Amino acid sequence: MTANIQPQTLNEFIILQQTAFPYAKGDLTRLLNHIGVAAKIVNREVNAAGLADILGKAGKTNIQGEDVMKLDEFANEQFIRVLTSSGEVCGLASEENHDIITFNNNFTKEGKYVVCIDPLDGSSNIDVNVSIGTIFSIYRRITEIGTLPDDRDILQPGTKQVAAGYVIYGSSTMLVYTTGLGVTGFTLDPSIGEFCLSHYNIVTPEKGNLYSINEGYYKQFSPGVQKYLDHCKGKDENSGYSARYIGSMVADFHRNLLKGGIYMYPSTKKQEGGKLRLLYEANPIAFLAEQAGGLATDGKGNRILEIIPKAIHQRVPLFTGSKKMVEDVEGWIKKYG
Ligand code: AHG
Ligand code: MN
Ligand code: MN
Repeated sequence: MTANIQPQTLNEFIILQQTAFPYAKGDLTRLLNHIGVAAKIVNREVNAAGLADILGKAGKTNIQGEDVMKLDEFANEQFIRVLTSSGEVCGLASEENHDIITFNNNFTKEGKYVVCIDPLDGSSNIDVNVSIGTIFSIYRRITEIGTLPDDRDILQPGTKQVAAGYVIYGSSTMLVYTTGLGVTGFTLDPSIGEFCLSHYNIVTPEKGNLYSINEGYYKQFSPGVQKYLDHCKGKDENSGYSARYIGSMVADFHRNLLKGGIYMYPSTKKQEGGKLRLLYEANPIAFLAEQAGGLATDGKGNRILEIIPKAIHQRVPLFTGSKKMVEDVEGWIKKYG
């Protein structure tokens, strides 16, 4: 008879990892744990979504002019609530809120960190039982501890992230994160209600055969992006990749991270600068991509993580995934524009 092997939980893993940071006092560990708790609450609701009255539109639009879904609101409220009570976070920027949210009490003013969050990514897939996610990014505050945070804390370049990750509510629920020491994935074991270590040290293939982009916008892309897509389709007989596009960046990125591929959301004629938001979509994904050995650029040779943000909801074109594929598309854009 073999002994049961106890799975390593998220909590246990980050406590062990904390010993790698000589000055860490456990605040970041507790913060990551709180994110795990909020993720479990959102997961419960996502799982029951077809049963409870939580599907559909909330009846308003957000700062980006997009329809807010009930689950968008629910996820936003849960993350704000859990992070407010954590004590480690003094403020937060969310896709669903126009301005930075400052937690105004003596307890939270002592918080060392700020969080940027996309509480529910892939809103258009909520009502149809397709994978959705949560994306988060954590920075050390710039303003003095004990005061209220402000935009300076939020508008830091991605290189300053101390941790970032996502939760994917898919066929199983996973939490994938980095603190700059590689990328680790945990799978929620519903029987014990814990995220358990399942993907240690994720390294993305240097080159894959998946390309992910909304090709419905083909005519709106620049000539360089169009040429690259023709190449992906094997038109020049040198390639022949497979197209995979879910429309939830978290799910598209996650698949490509594990299998090898490229995820793209370029500028379009209608939307110069693309659709994705720098602070709570592109930066955390870029941090993870680089930590897994991949790349994340704006298609014009600029590393996403080095962009200096000017506004909370700023958008950026994103090309991310396997290193050689990102370099390849950059080459086509450089040649054809
Ligand atoms: P969100 O649901 O947080 O607004 O983000 C949706 C994003 C991203 O997840 C996805 O890849 C992209 O929008 C899909 O956009 P298109 O429908 O234009 O392809
Ligand atoms: Mn999103
Ligand atoms: Mn969202």
